[in-house]
Parts: sequence; C-alpha cells; structure tokens
Amino acid sequence: MRDFVSSRARDIPPSGIRKFFDLLLSMEDVITLGVGEPDFNTPWTVSEAGIYAIEQGHTSYTSNKGLLLLRQLISRDIGKRFGVDYDPEGEILVTSGVSEGLDIALRAIIDPGDEVLVAQPCYVAYAPCATLAGGVSVPVPCDERHHFRLQPDILMERITNKSKALVMNFPNNPTGAVMQKSHLKEIGDIVIDHDLLLISDEVYSALTYEGSHTAIASLEGLRERTITLNGFSKAYSMTGWRVGYLCAPPSLCEAALKIHQYVMLCAPIMAQMAAIEALRNGEEDKNRMVREYLLRRNLFVEGLNRIGLPCHTPEGAFYAFPSVEKTGLDDITFAERLLAEQHVAVVPGSVFGGAGAGYLRCAYAVSREHLIEALKRMEAFIHGL
Ligand SMILES: Cc1ncc(COP(=O)(O)O)c(C=O)c1O
Repeated sequence: MRDFVSSRARDIPPSGIRKFFDLLLSMEDVITLGVGEPDFNTPWTVSEAGIYAIEQGHTSYTSNKGLLLLRQLISRDIGKRFGVDYDPEGEILVTSGVSEGLDIALRAIIDPGDEVLVAQPCYVAYAPCATLAGGVSVPVPCDERHHFRLQPDILMERITNKSKALVMNFPNNPTGAVMQKSHLKEIGDIVIDHDLLLISDEVYSALTYEGSHTAIASLEGLRERTITLNGFSKAYSMTGWRVGYLCAPPSLCEAALKIHQYVMLCAPIMAQMAAIEALRNGEEDKNRMVREYLLRRNLFVEGLNRIGLPCHTPEGAFYAFPSVEKTGLDDITFAERLLAEQHVAVVPGSVFGGAGAGYLRCAYAVSREHLIEALKRMEAFIHGL
C-alpha cells in the first residue's frame, strides 16, 4: 500500500511539549510546571453563562464571523485598553482560540515559498503552521542579553526579498519577555520599511506586570499591516472553551474569514456566550488572577535565582525561563533527569526553537505551595549533580 501521509504532515515535528508530557503519564507525585494553562477554574459567572446558553437552546451555528454582540464587546474592550479601533462588522473575526487565528492568518497571507520571520524562542505552533501554509519559517533569535526582546539589527539580518511577514508574541511564551512601546516602534519602522506584514499574538496581553501592554497595531502606520491575535484562554482561564479573535484591516479579515468559514464555520456558540459574559463582568476575576500570578512570579523567580538557576525577571505571561548553563547539563538532559529523579516536570527550552537551548520553561500557573515544593526538589536535584 502507498504511504498516504503527505510530505508536509510527515515533515512537521510532533509537539515537543506533548512528547515530553507523555512521559509523565505513568508517574506519580509529579509537580508539573509544564503545561501553559492556568490552574484556576473559569470564573463561575462565565461558566454559568455557557451553561445557561445550552439550557436556553443556544446550540446552533452562529454567523461565521461570530456573534455580533461579542465582536462589538471585543471592539470596545481593545479600543478601551489599547486605543486601537476595529469595526466589529468587517475587522474582527471570532476564532476557535488563538490557535485557529494563527493558522488562518498564515494561510490567508502565504504563497508557496514566502518566508515568515518568527521571533524565537516562541510558541511551538508558529513554525509548523507556517510550513503547513506553504511558507518557510525563518527564526529570528531573541537572546537573554537583550531581555529576550526582538532586536532590530538581528531582525534586519534575517530579512530577504522573500520575506513576507513577521510573527511575534509579547508578552512571550516561553520567556515572559515584554516589548515596551519604544522597542515596538523600532520593530514597526523596519516592518514598514521592508513592506512586511505583522502577525502579533497578544494572547498574554492581560498578563503584563510592569507598566501596561502596548498593542503594536496602535502605533502609527502599523494598523493597516498588522493581524492581531488575542483570546480568552489565558486572561479568563478559558482554555477549554476555545474562543479567540483576529483583528485586521478588512481585506485581510475577509481573506481569513473565507478560510475560517470552510474549515471551522464558527466558534462554539455557548463558548461565545460565555466570552460575552467574560467581557461584561469578568474584569474583577481577571485582575484577581493576574495579581496572584504576580505573587507567584516573585516567589518562584526569586527561588530559582537562590537555588542557582539564574533567571531574568519575566515581565509578562506566566512562565519563568531560567538558564541551566551553570549546571553543566543541557536543557533536555536537565528536564528529563529532573522528572525522573525528583518528579518535577518542566519543558526544555529548545522545544521552543534553537534560541531556547540551555533554558527551561517553568509555568508558574500552579499554586504557591506547589511552587515552593518544586523549588525544594529542584534544589535537591542540583545539589545531587
Ligand atoms: C503564545 C500562544 N499563542 C497561542 C496559544 C493558544 O491559545 P488558544 O488557547 O487561544 O488557542 C498559546 C497557548 O499556550 C500560546 O502560548
């Protein structure tokens, strides 16, 4: 029989995170700092809105674009928080999470062979989705010397006449890095000068601890060449509901909508109705969770530095990204041995691209008790080396 699997599907690697976490399944007493998922339940009023939607018989498709009320509330929310206006009728598309938004954004803009610059270390889906869309992903490393921020000169070095778009994510998964307005402006100028499109994944925007988040589309000249992705998974602890959104100028939004209507139709209606409740009444819950993440960050990052794993202070998201260089182990060996010997699960930084080698991603979206216990075990592991 022929091998029916396409070369594209064959060639993309399985997610390094999932592969690593399959190891966990057979183990007991594991503290996992591995999964990038809030440990909080979805705020109750939000869940209730979803349940009530089902009780009321809201079990149908919605408009492909998503419920108009949800798009209106998203428009109001981002207008208020970031000072950038999007028309709910033609510039906002509700997606099944940022994951779908990323996929359709890339498919909407890539022709075969187009190069997609990807600020690395980065979320594991960027390069595979660019490949699946027919593009070629080009990593742009963001190193610790520069607080893991994207550097204009390094970006410039990677631009060729095939470059079409830049994908970036700040606050960043896995480093927690944040780009301030002045940094974004420098990147934006390069994007404009080289006539590139920006795909900005701002799913962690609500989790910005120092100062406030700047949406890159709010900077002069960038709104018309930016697709912004955002969603409810992280800010409102709604990973399982699968609601996100894409904001873009009409022609790009329309192109993404065409793909979305064939592959997804719409995000689940009950999840959209829960998202409406999150935007109407979820602010306090969101702020409560963000305050708790900040306490956890301070506790955990201070602890990592104390036990001999130097860690820059992440200014956003819920990840710490300590270096393991001093231990003499590479990140994969460190993570595998830490799991086997001390039952603490973290993700090797190299899973997030070559620029992440030598680091660990530790998600501090777990209770403070778990973080304290994880630090104890990590310290014991390091002492035993
Ligand atoms: C940077 C980034 N983008 C997108 C996603 C996926 O988000 P969603 O649940 O909205 O699909 C994640 C999840 O970890 C992420 O870290």
